[in-house]
Amino acid sequence: MSAARGKFISLEGGEGAGKSTLLAGLHACIEQHGIALVQTREPGGTGVGEAVRTIVLDLAQRELAAETELLLMFASRAQLVREVIEPALHAGHWVLCDRFADASYAYQGGGRGQPESRIAALEDWACAGVKPDLTLLLDVPVATGRARAAGRGDADRIEVEADSFFERVRTTYRQRAAAEPDRFRMLDASQSPAVVLQAAIVAIAHLFEAKV
Ligand SMILES: Nc1ncnc2c1ncn2[C@@H]1O[C@H](COP(=O)(O)OP(=O)(O)OP(=O)(O)O)[C@@H](O)[C@H]1O
Ligand SMILES: [Mg+2]
Repeated sequence: MSAARGKFISLEGGEGAGKSTLLAGLHACIEQHGIALVQTREPGGTGVGEAVRTIVLDLAQRELAAETELLLMFASRAQLVREVIEPALHAGHWVLCDRFADASYAYQGGGRGQPESRIAALEDWACAGVKPDLTLLLDVPVATGRARAAGRGDADRIEVEADSFFERVRTTYRQRAAAEPDRFRMLDASQSPAVVLQAAIVAIAHLFEAKV
């Protein structure tokens, strides 16, 4: 008998929203339920994907066109789906991913102005039907997130964008959450890490009930 398909949870939000911080706490919480878990990130998560990450975050790549950036993000994603996410879900493992396709709608769509219909077509092709069961959107004012991220040191090629870019990213994320309320849970990420983690645990609780 094959294992029941695992659950796929993605974390989304702007710079410094606290995705990586929350991932650590969520990882521990899910494992405490006796569930095998694969944690990964975008862009990246595979050999090819991490190479793509180096390119898209490299400040020296000043000439990178918005179209190229979009295609690179989906190249990384296509590989991650086939090499990591789909095999894990098929084996009954859960997958926790730091960003997924919604990030392309927010950053390459809202931020860079690439058409939503084009992103949707790429998603259809690259993700081959793999979609998060649940997406946690960490929503935080742009200034708050940027102040947190600034504490980490050197900004990457995306972090150097203007506030207006990140306002469009935030707006697009919020619009997507409103359009798909069954899949999204929006968390107020301006709260303390402990409070955000508690809210996230509540938000994913229904997935545990559906486990058996
Ligand atoms: N809820 C919070 N309150 C205050 N500070 C926080 C909170 N969550 C995270 N931080 C701090 O803010 C900084 C950014 O957090 P983190 O790296 O988790 O954000 P991120 O969403 O993963 O950012 P990025 O999109 O740049 O990867 C870190 O120094 C972290 O310790
Ligand atoms: Mg992070």
